[in-house]
Amino acid sequence: MRFPTSLLALLTAIVFISVDARPIRNARNAPRLITIPLKRMEGDASLHVEIRHQQQINRAQRLAARASNLAGPSDAQLRENLERRASFLPSTVQKRFNRPPPDYILPSDDGAVISNLAALDDDTDEPAVLAKNSSAVAPDGADTGYFFTVPIGNPARPFNVILDSGSSDFWVMSDQCESEDGGGCGEHTYLSESNSQSFVNLHTKWNITYGSGAADGELVQDTIIVGGMVLTNHTFGVAHSISQGFARDSAADGLMGLGGKGLSNQGVPTPVEALKNAGFIDSAITSYRLPRFIDRTNNGEVSFGGLDETKFDPSTLVTVNNTGDGFWLAPLGGVSVDGVDVNGIQSSVGLMDTGTTLLAIPTKDADAVHAKIPGAKLQGSGQYSVPCNTTTVVSLKFGGKSFDINPKDLPFAALGKTTGDCTSGIASFDDDKFLVGDTFLKSVYFSTNVEDNTMTLAKAI
Ligand SMILES: *[C@@H]1O[C@H](CO)[C@@H](O)[C@H](O)[C@H]1NC(C)=O
Ligand SMILES: *[C@@H]1O[C@H](CO)[C@@H](O)[C@H](O)[C@H]1NC(C)=O
Ligand SMILES: *[C@@H]1O[C@H](CO)[C@@H](O)[C@H](O)[C@H]1NC(C)=O
Ligand SMILES: *[C@@H]1O[C@H](CO)[C@@H](O)[C@H](O)[C@H]1NC(C)=O
Ligand SMILES: *[C@@H]1O[C@H](CO)[C@@H](O)[C@H](O)[C@H]1NC(C)=O
Repeated sequence: MRFPTSLLALLTAIVFISVDARPIRNARNAPRLITIPLKRMEGDASLHVEIRHQQQINRAQRLAARASNLAGPSDAQLRENLERRASFLPSTVQKRFNRPPPDYILPSDDGAVISNLAALDDDTDEPAVLAKNSSAVAPDGADTGYFFTVPIGNPARPFNVILDSGSSDFWVMSDQCESEDGGGCGEHTYLSESNSQSFVNLHTKWNITYGSGAADGELVQDTIIVGGMVLTNHTFGVAHSISQGFARDSAADGLMGLGGKGLSNQGVPTPVEALKNAGFIDSAITSYRLPRFIDRTNNGEVSFGGLDETKFDPSTLVTVNNTGDGFWLAPLGGVSVDGVDVNGIQSSVGLMDTGTTLLAIPTKDADAVHAKIPGAKLQGSGQYSVPCNTTTVVSLKFGGKSFDINPKDLPFAALGKTTGDCTSGIASFDDDKFLVGDTFLKSVYFSTNVEDNTMTLAKAI
């Protein structure tokens, strides 16, 4: 009588599946690990790679200053950095670069109005290659950040939000949203009482300023769904005013900050803390596996509640205490290049930030590290290039273990279609700490625990 038995099993399974698939789950039947796929954000490919590189450095400079409670560079200084960087571009590019507006205007939050269309320094449409006679395509600075989808409201609609370990506020654009320049906020999904029955405006003003960009609005309560877990009456922000960079970037409708409590302007639990408070997960842990464009795989994910053991090598796991209050600061034990320690590294701390693209390090340390990278060249701009086909392994030491940067991530973007040189993913900046962004974080499995104020690192697989 096998058939009826398996039919019964099938029916039972259907009943269980249908129960389990109800949209609202309570804490008791919730999984202890919630995993959601990540998507990559791409930089503005219409800008010259050196300008995009400089924009990232400007952002890093501001963020690092904020983490030290310093005022940081003014808009005018950031603009000057960009113009100075542009002045070192080849004259063929500069001719186009200096074409009068409105070819391309950099967002004002980057402190610059520079017209530029040139992506690379020649006119062919061929992609840049790793080396002469190579068919492998060089990196083009394609991984500039990461976002994922959070359904919000009733009826729930999908919002794409940037994932940022370097801030602690969660916000999406409201339908009153205006860009800083007075225009609209562009092609986005907006939240308001007119499109969500569960929306409650708390009429409390809120604002935030980032390394680049800002948002300003009010606190609201509404239903948010994180990896299928429903948080009702969650408190977060809607932005009525945003900087032009956010308006222009159609990939994201908002931002989710997953830093510690000390960074919260909203003064409310972050989504991972709310998931913990609601009993969906046991610990307020957020874990990141950041994907890289040139791998052409969709292996990126963020997990809440723990670590996804399929994504890292457990023998390499270390946990370190956070020395920051809100920002994720890990004591830096040193740097090595191809297994040889770099002497005289002055910095002793790394600020781990998924929202930063590059690995930005103090100028003296950048000099010492690049001196050990075969083929690295100091450019007039003060930044380094590395061979696009470099196989050199730069490693950072945290918690007594050395973590390699995959050589694929050392070059950021090709400087020309045929030069074989790329801007370095390790940028030189004016600060005393390492700002450890995606150049490094793509090679590790990175996890943060808000309650213990610890970070865990392991080699990503
Ligand atoms: C990188 O490319 C250069 C030529 O541009 C070549 O001489 C060198 O052997 C290549 N290195 C590797 C590791 O492929
Ligand atoms: C590059 O290709 C050309 C033509 O196919 C060949 O003659 C030359 O030897 C190649 N150079 C290298 C470094 O492989
Ligand atoms: C931003 O919020 C802070 C703290 O609530 C407040 O002091 C400041 O005035 C606000 N800034 C703006 C531009 O609204
Ligand atoms: C959530 O907010 C709605 C609307 O204000 C309210 O009716 C409901 O009681 C709230 N639920 C909880 C659990 O606070
Ligand atoms: C981390 O902090 C805990 C508790 O504060 C302490 O017991 C432990 O020794 C610290 N670990 C390191 C490596 O400093």
